[in-house]
Amino acid sequence: MQTLLRLVTWSLIGGGVAFRLFAHDIITTNLTYSRDISRILGKRCLTCHGAGSSIPLTSYQEVRPWAVDIKDQVLSRAMPPWGAVKGFGDLKPDDGLSQEEIMIIAAWVIGGAPQGNPALFPKMPSNVIPPSSPPVRDLQTVATRTVLTAPVRLAGIRPEANASSVRITARTPDGRIEPLLWLYHFNAGSSRTFFFREPVPLPSGTVIESSDPLRFALESSATEISPAP
Ligand code: HEC
Repeated sequence: MQTLLRLVTWSLIGGGVAFRLFAHDIITTNLTYSRDISRILGKRCLTCHGAGSSIPLTSYQEVRPWAVDIKDQVLSRAMPPWGAVKGFGDLKPDDGLSQEEIMIIAAWVIGGAPQGNPALFPKMPSNVIPPSSPPVRDLQTVATRTVLTAPVRLAGIRPEANASSVRITARTPDGRIEPLLWLYHFNAGSSRTFFFREPVPLPSGTVIESSDPLRFALESSATEISPAP
């Protein structure tokens, strides 16, 4: 319904004669869809917004009606739905936008979201397959807090519930606190494992806990030999 409303609003404002007449007056940016924005969307959005998805973002015609919404979504970091805070825990490079990419998108929209020269539009696949993740297996499921009874090499964490803001940390027996994962606006519907850049070695006796009640699975590499019990 909302989508329909947007499309109707767009065809009234954007597709209408007024826009075409005054188009030159309201463009206040040198950033263009063809040269700048399509590349960012191609890299960061098309795994989910490819051709055939419910909101395809593969061409100017598809993207333009959503421009203001796209700006809001990326500024609030709701899109792409990464669900974690950068820098808390040493996570693998993520699909989150860089601050620079966010500013480019916002400036383009505020400047009138121009198309630019279609000849600069990069050759892009209209569907992007997300890179496959390494195979993992569940070591154990944690309900908020656990004490490890054996040493582990933690490859990742898979949250099993929504989390508006929850931090997961490890406290080793010698009292060191290791930040693991800070979930932020995480939606469990998009089931995913957050991988560490390198597996995190944690000794027996380590306390792993979340700052708020949460179920989450500890994952190890599927190919790794588990330590003798
Ligand atoms: C991991 C998948 C995924 C990625 C990556 C992703 N999105 Fe989305 N996006 C969704 C889902 C799911 C929805 C919900 C609507 C639907 O498609 O059914 C959505 C909705 C949206 C909406 C509409 C929000 C509303 O008002 O309801 C916009 C705009 C949007 N995405 C923009 C983007 C942009 C821009 C990017 C890249 C910077 C991006 N998305 C990356 C999954 C994704």
